[in-house]
Amino acid sequence: MNTDKHIVVGLDVGTTKVCTIIGYQKNSELEILGVGSHPSYGLKKGSVVNIDKTVRSICSSVEEAKLMAGITTLVSATVGIAGNHIYSFNSTGVVPVKGKEITQDDVDRVLEAARAVVIPSDREILHVIPQEYRVDNTDGIKDPIGMIGVRLEVKVHIVTGLTPLIQNLVKCVEQAGIIVNDIILQPIASSRSTLSDEEKEIGVVLVDIGGGTTDIAVWKEGCLVHSEIIPVGGNHFTNDLSVALKIPHNESERIKVYHGSVLPETLNQSAHVTVQGLAGTRPREVQLGIIADTLGARAEELFKIVKDVIHDNNLQDDITGGYVITGGGALIKGLAELAEYVLERPAKIGYPNAFGGMTSVMQNPKFSTVLGLMLESDKSFVVKEKNTDIEIDIVSKLSRSLKNVFKEIF
Ligand SMILES: Nc1ncnc2c1ncn2[C@@H]1O[C@H](COP(=O)(O)OP(=O)(O)OP(=O)(O)O)[C@@H](O)[C@H]1O
Ligand SMILES: [Mg+2]
Repeated sequence: MNTDKHIVVGLDVGTTKVCTIIGYQKNSELEILGVGSHPSYGLKKGSVVNIDKTVRSICSSVEEAKLMAGITTLVSATVGIAGNHIYSFNSTGVVPVKGKEITQDDVDRVLEAARAVVIPSDREILHVIPQEYRVDNTDGIKDPIGMIGVRLEVKVHIVTGLTPLIQNLVKCVEQAGIIVNDIILQPIASSRSTLSDEEKEIGVVLVDIGGGTTDIAVWKEGCLVHSEIIPVGGNHFTNDLSVALKIPHNESERIKVYHGSVLPETLNQSAHVTVQGLAGTRPREVQLGIIADTLGARAEELFKIVKDVIHDNNLQDDITGGYVITGGGALIKGLAELAEYVLERPAKIGYPNAFGGMTSVMQNPKFSTVLGLMLESDKSFVVKEKNTDIEIDIVSKLSRSLKNVFKEIF
């Protein structure tokens, strides 16, 4: 039996969309087979608030991806989590080394010691991510196995979430017939698909602006040093427009996506756009500058919150690489320029890095999380060849080019 072939699945249950990506890993090469994206109606600020609606969105997105991939059954997936119930902090652990050389067992014990922190009973630990090890008096060690010493210490980043909210997410995925392989904090997944190793090394802040939340991951010397979920996302930009222009949500979403900018000073003062007001009212002309004023004010406020997060955690001198802004909310015109101005560091929009089978449609910041989830899951789910449960119908896969199917979906 050949175990070098895996089906890997990322499932991003977001506030505005549920997205599934099915990949096929063969001999360390990964190829995207199928993508499904469906509007999400059961989440608020990144947390599930309606089980039935969430299950339906998951089912639709999974079915779409399966159809495209030519796969009849999907067993499990790596699922992303966010929401403002997430709380992360750094901790340390220390153990005496059992033998002369440090072994995997010592590393396991020190990580266990680091996770032995008191957390409220309604919380559970999602991740314990090692940052660096210290053997006796030498610190900055990434891999201590094989080293000689008597005392092993580790610094870790711990991510926790509220148990009931984690369970609600797991329940939705399971009700959709999918086993949850692993739950990964969304900005960790987005970092995986958009950041380079060099960026993580010199220090960088990933800012994923989704629909309901903005997720932050700070990297330094290749390690995750801080993560945080801010309960403000792209939907707040849309709501601000609805209030300012007195127009329905759908119309403000359209205006934001097609005519929005956060830099009013770069716009032609006489440029206008026609907006449809609330039912029964006539369409009217609105100056693009007014739209940009509204969106710009919200973006500035959001970046000030991000700046506070960095300063509160004393990380301002650690982020030489600046800010990488991703997520669907990063697509408003002028956002990187405004970020650079407010955050006083270089900023750019983070597009997922390309790999096998990835079309230009997928290289969109709104797919950073789901692509990262799939990449993170590459070892967690193994499909053995000739497994009767899962048939990869290569004929159906080849019969439709990925490009055509993307056109149908998006
Ligand atoms: N072209 C665009 N221009 C401006 N905003 C956009 C564009 N495309 C998408 N967005 C905004 O991006 C947001 C959705 O981003 P994304 O798909 O990353 O969110 P999500 O993953 O569903 O939500 P979350 O991560 O908060 O749970 C929405 O607010 C949407 O209006
Ligand atoms: Mg998201």
